Amino acid sequence: MQVLVVGSGGREHALVWKLAQSKTVTKLYCAPGNAGIAREPKCQLLPLSVSDIDGLVRFATVQNIGLAVIGPEVPLVAGIADRFLAAGLEVFGPSQAGAQLEGSKAWAKDLMLEAGVPTARGSVFEDEPSAIAYLESQSAPIVVKADGLAAGKGVTVAQTREEAIAAVRSLFAGSLGAAGSPVVIEDCLMGQEASVLAFTDGKRILPMIAAQDHKPVGEGDTGPNTGGMGAYAPTPVVSSEVMERVRLQVLEPVLAALRDRGITYKGILYAGLMISPEGEPSVIEFNCRFGDPETQVVLPLLKSDLAEVMLACVEERLDEVRLEWHDGYAACVVMASGGYPQAYEKGKAIAGLEAATATGAQVFHAGTASSGKTGAIVTDGGRVLGVAGRGETLQAALELAYRAVREIRFEGAYFRSDIGFRVLS
Ligand code: AMP
Ligand code: GLY
Repeated sequence: MQVLVVGSGGREHALVWKLAQSKTVTKLYCAPGNAGIAREPKCQLLPLSVSDIDGLVRFATVQNIGLAVIGPEVPLVAGIADRFLAAGLEVFGPSQAGAQLEGSKAWAKDLMLEAGVPTARGSVFEDEPSAIAYLESQSAPIVVKADGLAAGKGVTVAQTREEAIAAVRSLFAGSLGAAGSPVVIEDCLMGQEASVLAFTDGKRILPMIAAQDHKPVGEGDTGPNTGGMGAYAPTPVVSSEVMERVRLQVLEPVLAALRDRGITYKGILYAGLMISPEGEPSVIEFNCRFGDPETQVVLPLLKSDLAEVMLACVEERLDEVRLEWHDGYAACVVMASGGYPQAYEKGKAIAGLEAATATGAQVFHAGTASSGKTGAIVTDGGRVLGVAGRGETLQAALELAYRAVREIRFEGAYFRSDIGFRVLS
């Protein structure tokens, strides 16, 4: 089978790396990919952007692609899966209707309410005066969210009412364009965050081991949010009892509510959760795709053949699949460009990649490109690399990842040195 992976980040590098190991997969294409993905066995990059849905469908049809795997949320929310299906192609990723789980926080909130899924109490506001009037009646901390996709920039966890009001004003003033309206205001949840990603064929749901992401840019979870500065798995925050609650209280009811709305959701259902000190899960958000950098720690631990699992999802026979896992832990440290998540420079030469790989760590490329005639690898994004280590213990996995990180140099390189701190301290 020939497989097309759509996307260009660290998540897509991990997907291509894992799919390349599958006996079922004869050839991989990645659109548009990055410099690290280009070096994976069986893989060829395609110069097509993730928003060129016509071009991607045409390529997949002509090339006889057996499975298209959609990495990012933007094309899913734009309806790329529907277009592949309409062309008679197999696609791993939900339809536009299903992707609303991530594409509209108001829609997701409504579905959770209907399904009785635990989540923060929240309200949806179509205009600024009613949102501010509501805030006047609430106490801080309180959370203000843009309804639509905002690449991680749509959420303000306000510590004061003034901060919340400023966030509401900014959203209605158009700071995030159309994605900023309506506005969802919800109670602030307390506890530890965890990401549970699950495979689903629309009928059954198969959770993967839980991961913990580190979204803020600074040590000790300080500073502005990013796409994720590092992750590890499995996280002890989600014990087997907590995972069972997540399955029974969150994943199964959401899938049933989707079915009730006539949506057959195939692909990844990603629950971003707050786990209370008592071990009760509440949903912070849903994503309609693999997480980044969670994928870079979950897939290295997956023993099962990823292509087989994905095919079982699209062919609605997930009941035949049992996921198998390696023992131990994986940890990923993201190396970013100086300045990220604000403005940063690109085009910095990256040294030490071979020495990093020689440690036994896996270097997943996120924002990299090949430059000029020499093909030297240079930085090409905010998150540049995700350096992942595996070990018997979380400490060992982190040690390996950081040993490899220390081999890599580029001007302005920034990384957090405290990945895993919440459970190690
Ligand atoms: P999201 O983009 O929805 O994942 O939100 C980004 C981050 O904001 C989350 O990872 C949480 O740290 C935080 N957050 C979002 N909603 C809440 C909430 N209701 N209570 C506490 N923190 C939240
Ligand atoms: N790591 C968070 C996300 O993928 O949305």
